Amino acid sequence: MTQMIDIAPSILAADWTRLGEEVESVERGGANLVHIDVMDGHFVPNITIGLPVVGALRDATPLPLDVHLMISEPGRYAEEFARAGASMVTVHTEADAHLNRTLVGIRSAGARAGVAINPATSLSAIEESLAFVDHILVMSVNPGFGGQSFIPATLDKVRRLREMIRSSGYQIRIEIDGGIDESNIAQAVGAGAEIIVAGSAVFNKKDDPAARVRHLRERATPLI
Ligand code: DX5
Ligand code: ZN
Repeated sequence: MTQMIDIAPSILAADWTRLGEEVESVERGGANLVHIDVMDGHFVPNITIGLPVVGALRDATPLPLDVHLMISEPGRYAEEFARAGASMVTVHTEADAHLNRTLVGIRSAGARAGVAINPATSLSAIEESLAFVDHILVMSVNPGFGGQSFIPATLDKVRRLREMIRSSGYQIRIEIDGGIDESNIAQAVGAGAEIIVAGSAVFNKKDDPAARVRHLRERATPLI
């Protein structure tokens, strides 16, 4: 069975003075999702955007919004992001002492629930959550900033996660986030990632983001 690959441009790298146009251009390029990085300056050392921007984007694009919460105690806000228009809400296992409650809450608020896992966190940390998630986001950089270098060891983690999911019998998609560009997207897909986040490889101030999305998709043919 061939994988369905979703390209999810991260607006973290976009020109925020023209956010609507930036999103429109990735839509034109055939992007499947819009990835929105929410950071609180506590779980990660950076502060970005919050609920009002998600609400504004909901009105600005027909694409599903993929909200990645890099915040402490995400259970306090996760359902609000779903109600603001997120189709997918992803929380970090490292940030939540009550992950099960948060994931169940996201689904009951009508969004797909996901758990994210940092490069240094073992897959065993999410094993008990497989029954409660629609997707698992493997961080391939340390969260907090765009434009960082891909950590190659995360490819093996994606492969092991694919096996873990297969033997669980659940339908769970793997998302990969951080440092993905045309040089490594095929390896990520080959390892089992189906939702590909790309920030600086799409929005780089000089090329047309639509063309960059098309280019990434062309390069996404899996290499095993
Ligand atoms: C990093 C964010 C990523 C980031 C990816 O903490 O979660 O979504 O925007 O940016 P690039 O693709 O530039 O690594
Ligand atoms: Zn992200």
